[in-house]
Amino acid sequence: MLKGKNAVITGGSRGIGKAIALEFAKNGADIAIIATRESKASDETLKELESFGVRARMYYCDIRDAEQVESAVQEIIADFGTIDILVNNAGITKDNLLPSLGIMDIDNVIDVNLKGCMFVTRSFIRNFVRHRKGSIINISSVVGLMGNKGQTNYAASKAGIVGFTKSVAKEYGRKNIRCNAIAPGYITTDMTAALSETQTEEIKSEIPMGKLGSPEDVARLALFLGSEMSSYITGEVIKVDGGMYV
Ligand code: NAI
Repeated sequence: MLKGKNAVITGGSRGIGKAIALEFAKNGADIAIIATRESKASDETLKELESFGVRARMYYCDIRDAEQVESAVQEIIADFGTIDILVNNAGITKDNLLPSLGIMDIDNVIDVNLKGCMFVTRSFIRNFVRHRKGSIINISSVVGLMGNKGQTNYAASKAGIVGFTKSVAKEYGRKNIRCNAIAPGYITTDMTAALSETQTEEIKSEIPMGKLGSPEDVARLALFLGSEMSSYITGEVIKVDGGMYV
């Protein structure tokens, strides 16, 4: 479905980003991953991707830093040529009740989740405009749509992604560049591994399907949005949440 396409995935070294990278590679796309040096299992991820017969490379970059982003993006374009799909997936949480949130906890979450997504998209947009095509997929969260106690910083960053997604869709629709967001519910990754068993049971009780989702559940929607199957869909926010938001 993605044969001959080049895809960039931020935070693609593990969790949801890795599942998206694997799904894209399985469908024939060459993959560039942007991740921090601290992220685990990078070499292993590259080997897994290459086992599908595609090209895979890792670019270390902190997406909070616009200059680092710009040079990583130039390096990716020099290595891969045209980029067809960008997935802004990298994200972090620093949860606490509002009075206990440190300034750094607010800054870091907004800087990685929202500003990082904007920096990466901004640096790739000329590539998309030049080729008059492209699909940008931003990973938001249901928490950005419904709010969550103890996650004011995170929810604000993910709500910001929704406004950014819709604006990019309007600004670049005429250039055949689509921009959509995915809002996952609770998905089993390192991010949710920090939850206690009691918290997990409480969460499950609020999900109509009674279970957490898998990274692959999100990856299959990303494949749809990245491919021509969704060629007339832009500016949408699609939930993958087992009905949590219903
Ligand atoms: P994870 O913690 O397993 O992976 C996060 C990735 O982001 C890592 O590869 C890491 O290297 C990268 N990253 C973090 N800070 C970075 C920085 N400054 N520069 C470059 N890369 C950076 O997280 P997970 O669970 O796979 O989440 C992926 C995305 O999905 C995030 O945006 C998260 O907010 C979102 N999400 C996750 C949900 C879940 O239940 N796991 C639910 C809803 C949304």
